[in-house]
Amino acid sequence: MAKKILVTGGTGYIGSHTVVELQQNGFEVVVIDNLANSSQKIIELIARISGKRPLFEKIDMTDKVLLDDFFLRHRGIEGVIHFAAFKAVGESVEKPLKYYHNNLVSLINLLECMTGMGANARLVFSSSCTVYGEPDQLPLTEKAPVKKAMSPYGNTKKISEEMIHDIAGRTPLQAISLRYFNPIGAHESALLGELPLGVPNNLVPFITQTAIGIRDQLRVFGNDYNTPDGTCIRDYIHVSDLAKAHVVALKRMLDHQNEAPHEVFNLGTGTGYSVLEAIASFEKTSGVALKWTFDERRPGDVEQLRADTTLANLRLGWKAEKGLDEMMDSAWKWEQNLAAGILND
Ligand code: UD1
Repeated sequence: MAKKILVTGGTGYIGSHTVVELQQNGFEVVVIDNLANSSQKIIELIARISGKRPLFEKIDMTDKVLLDDFFLRHRGIEGVIHFAAFKAVGESVEKPLKYYHNNLVSLINLLECMTGMGANARLVFSSSCTVYGEPDQLPLTEKAPVKKAMSPYGNTKKISEEMIHDIAGRTPLQAISLRYFNPIGAHESALLGELPLGVPNNLVPFITQTAIGIRDQLRVFGNDYNTPDGTCIRDYIHVSDLAKAHVVALKRMLDHQNEAPHEVFNLGTGTGYSVLEAIASFEKTSGVALKWTFDERRPGDVEQLRADTTLANLRLGWKAEKGLDEMMDSAWKWEQNLAAGILND
């Protein structure tokens, strides 16, 4: 019998890719999402890729009554992958309480419900390299100190990890937190990808929206950083590689291979690219000359980030496989599908 897994935020960017990956690994998937930042149409696109329509319920996880009722109706869930959260850094600075309420109350409600799962209380948590703040040393290992968060969004990730850590140590909960570096790209089918609400804050959606004509030009934030070309360096990782890591982490707990009640892994490629290198890769793979200009540094940006992925490679037996060109190519194909109205029909 297929094992039943709950994916919260399963119509979102990373969630939807992970649902497909779970289905392709023989799991039965149940998705809950409040659709605050996604579309129910994604469920149909998931089904088009995998041939299996995941069960979907529209639930806001801050509503404990609804979440309790969901868990009462869905017995036999053997693991949870928790993506449902707000993620816009800038908005979190403007509206901190919105972020603390949504991200923390959702997790607390989930953890309370999971106490009823007994030995099936297995959680994969969607975390971020933002918990490291400004790094002292590169590449970043999991032993690097967790620093004061640079935004309320980042703080919700830090606090969430701490809550999970305390609870996993005292209850049957088993958990793995995955600290993503910079997830980009789209599914190879071009049926799933990132769907930014309004003007994108992140680099790659801004690049593809500029190329398709939605934005006038890209602003490259800062050209005087202490890097070879003066622009910031990030460890970009293909969203499909990231999705695979979630399935591996879940299996690790299902197979009782985890070595502590709460483990933490960095997920990146281990290679850093500058903003200008990212633009060059986009132009090469798409054949489009991108309109861009240099602008001031963006407040809060860190000069360089790069993951040491040794721990994930060794313990999870996982390694990112897709390179920057593939990431850009897939992001561009997805943007073109969006422009063709893939979500409209
Ligand atoms: C951001 C968040 C991080 C979050 C991650 C994934 C901040 C400070 N950090 O990471 O917490 O986990 O997204 O959602 O917002 N850039 C431009 N022009 C643009 C947009 C970006 O030059 O229009 C540059 C940035 O200065 C940066 C790089 O591109 O050097 C990547 O930016 P972005 O995609 O926003 O990711 P991060 O800032 O690394």
